[in-house]
Amino acid sequence: MTAPATAGILGSPREDLTAARILDRARDLVAPALADAVAALHPWVAEMAEHALGTRGTDAGRGGGKGVRQALALLGAELAGAPAGTGVPAAVAVELVHTFSLVHDDIMDGDALRRGRPALWKAYGTGPAVLAGDALFALGVETLSTAPAAVRRLSGALCDLVHGQADDLLFARRPWTGAEAVTTQEYETMAERKTGALLGCALALGAQLGGASDGTAAALDGVGRHLGVAFQIVDDLLGIWGDPEVTGKPVHGDLREGKKTFPVLAALGSPYGPELAALLSAGEAAGRAADLVAQAGGRAAALREARRHLAAADALLDSVPCSPRAVADVRSLLPALTRRAL
Ligand code: IPE
Ligand code: IPE
Ligand code: MG
Ligand code: MG
Repeated sequence: MTAPATAGILGSPREDLTAARILDRARDLVAPALADAVAALHPWVAEMAEHALGTRGTDAGRGGGKGVRQALALLGAELAGAPAGTGVPAAVAVELVHTFSLVHDDIMDGDALRRGRPALWKAYGTGPAVLAGDALFALGVETLSTAPAAVRRLSGALCDLVHGQADDLLFARRPWTGAEAVTTQEYETMAERKTGALLGCALALGAQLGGASDGTAAALDGVGRHLGVAFQIVDDLLGIWGDPEVTGKPVHGDLREGKKTFPVLAALGSPYGPELAALLSAGEAAGRAADLVAQAGGRAAALREARRHLAAADALLDSVPCSPRAVADVRSLLPALTRRAL
């Protein structure tokens, strides 16, 4: 089973082309500032940072991420009526902080593959990878140090991210069924924090640097949070049915680690629940568990829920007084991001 777990269901191919154009433009605008920031680090730490960012050696430009957060930061500035370039410091900050979170996340999750290459802890060891993550984090904050209100927004998002990661780890220790089982509502609160907070922060930070009012920045933060829940649910789908060649990440890790992902939680609530819980508790046969989740309707339920959050993001966007051209770009980008063929 390969990447089209979500293909063609949540958006249109024309949106994919527009989204690719928006992401490429953002990468071109932000890459020089990102490289300058990393160059200020200790050379060994800079080398690790470049590995994580995908800007190192012969793989430069090919091993990086999609650059979703940097694109949202530039769009945030444009939504506020400023040129995209106004959002560059916000874009650099959120992309650095996002990469930091992935470097540490792979250690927490024990995942060995990231962005199509060995995870940093696999390539350099856990201690050095923790250090490189710290450096990316510090550099992200430093980028905004002349704008205290921006630092406050970023650090607030980081506290949420840590809160969400803590719940994600604790949920993995809870049973699949019974009074202590994780609910889909708990999952969504966790996903909004671990993933939505930084996506919301990206849009809002860019808007803030572009001169938006507090109300507009707060509404855009809400748009990003809904996007984040949809994005995380699709990430859960790709973690079960995605193609590592396309996603650059492993499959079935979440099932083996007991992660309470949305498709699994939805399937546990179906008549197949007891059979699935027994299989998951045995901690093996991830392939069979994946088939059972699909058979129980967990995959379809996850897509429905992602679509619902996308619609909520869209509706919230309607309420914000913003540049119509930038709004059109955001409207193309959001559904394409939850298809994740990019
Ligand atoms: C991965 O985010 C982590 C999640 C929040 C699900 P992305 O899918 O945006 O990762 P990159 O930056 O493209 O590698
Ligand atoms: C993503 O967590 C959120 C953060 C890294 C903060 P996941 O563990 O679900 O993301 P992937 O699937 O490893 O990218
Ligand atoms: Mg992970
Ligand atoms: Mg994780």
